[in-house]
Amino acid sequence: MGLFSLTQELAIDLGTANTIIICNDKVMVDEPSVIAVNVRTGQLEAIGKKAKPYIGACPPHLKTIRPLKDGVIADFEATEWMLRGMISKIKPRGSLFAPSLKMVVCIPSGSTNVEIRAVHDSAEHAGAREVAMIFEPMAAALGAGLDIEAPEGNLIIDIGGGTSEFACISLGGIVCSESVSVAGDVFTEDIVRYLRTQLNLKVGERTAEDIKCKIGAALPKLDEEPEPYILTGPNTLTALPQTVSLTYTEIYKALDPSLKKLDEALMHVLEKMPPELYADIVRTGIHIAGGGALIKGLDKRFTNKTGIQCHIADDPLRAIVRGTNMALKNFDHYSFLLR
Ligand SMILES: Nc1ncnc2c1ncn2[C@@H]1O[C@H](COP(=O)(O)OP(=O)(O)O)[C@@H](O)[C@H]1O
Ligand SMILES: [Mg+2]
Repeated sequence: MGLFSLTQELAIDLGTANTIIICNDKVMVDEPSVIAVNVRTGQLEAIGKKAKPYIGACPPHLKTIRPLKDGVIADFEATEWMLRGMISKIKPRGSLFAPSLKMVVCIPSGSTNVEIRAVHDSAEHAGAREVAMIFEPMAAALGAGLDIEAPEGNLIIDIGGGTSEFACISLGGIVCSESVSVAGDVFTEDIVRYLRTQLNLKVGERTAEDIKCKIGAALPKLDEEPEPYILTGPNTLTALPQTVSLTYTEIYKALDPSLKKLDEALMHVLEKMPPELYADIVRTGIHIAGGGALIKGLDKRFTNKTGIQCHIADDPLRAIVRGTNMALKNFDHYSFLLR
C-alpha cells in the first residue's frame, strides 16, 4: 500500500447466516450476520462474532438482530450498520488516505428493487465509489467453477441459512429458478422441535445448530457414519437433567420433512428447464454450494432422486464469496451485474 490512496477491491457475500468479505483476493471477514443493539440507547453494541453469543442469551437491555433473516433484507438500518462495521474491520495499512473502494455485493435473489437500492446506498455510505450487485445463484455458480457464459445449461443449488435457491444458468443469465425458504435455519428449528416432541428434551438454537453440523444427515444410512452426539439438557416435563446419545439416523428423521421440500423444488426446476439444457445437466451434473451442502449425504440423496450426478463445491460456505470475487475481477465485462 503506497502513501497515496489506492483502490481497494472488496467482494462481499451478504448472506442471511454469514457475511464474508474478500479484499484483494484474501478472506478478511467471515462472521455471522448478526448485530446486538442496546434497546435503551438504540446504540450498536456488537457485530458479527462478538454479537452471536447473545443469541438466545441476551441481557434485558440488549437485543440481537439478524438483518437478513429470511433470505430478504429484513431490516435496512441494521443491514447498513452491519455492512459498515464489517467493512471497517479491513483497515489499509500504511496508507495516509482512505482508499477508494470498489465493491461487488452478493445479495439474495429474492431481493426487491427497494432492497437492492438499500444495499447499494449502504455500500456507498460505507465508502464505496463503485458498486455492483450480483444475485446469489450467479455468484454460487461462478464460485463452484461453472462456465456461466457458455451456451449450455448449468444447475446450481445454493442452500444458505434462510433460503435455498435452485437455478439453471446459461449464457450468463438465469434461465429458470426456484427459491424456497427451507434452509439451514429451518433445519436447526426442525432439530429443536424433534428433540422436544420425541425425546422431551429442551435444546437451544446454538446447540441444535451444532448437532446439525456434526451429525445432520439427509439419508437414513450414510457411507461414512459420524459418531453419536452426546447431549445433556433439561427434560421438558420434569426439568431434571437428561443425557441422550443421538445418532445421525435420528437427525435424518428430524430433517427429512424439510428435505422433501428441497427434493420437490429440485424436481420443479428440472421440469421447467428447456430440454436442451436438461441434456447438458444430465451430462455435467448438479452443483451444490452454501453451508447446507454440508448436510451429510445430501448429494447422494439428490442423485437417488434424479438419477443425475451431484457435486459439492469446494469449501461450499465460501463458494459464493469466491464467485463474487470473480465477478469483481470481471466488473466491466459481466453484463448481469446490477449497478
Ligand atoms: N457442517 C454443516 N452441516 C450442516 N449445515 C451447516 C454446516 N456448516 C454450516 N451449516 C449451515 O449453513 C448455513 C449457513 O450457510 P451460508 O451459505 O453461510 O448461508 P447464508 O448464505 O444464508 O449466509 C447455516 O444455517 C449453518 O448452520
Ligand atoms: Mg449465501
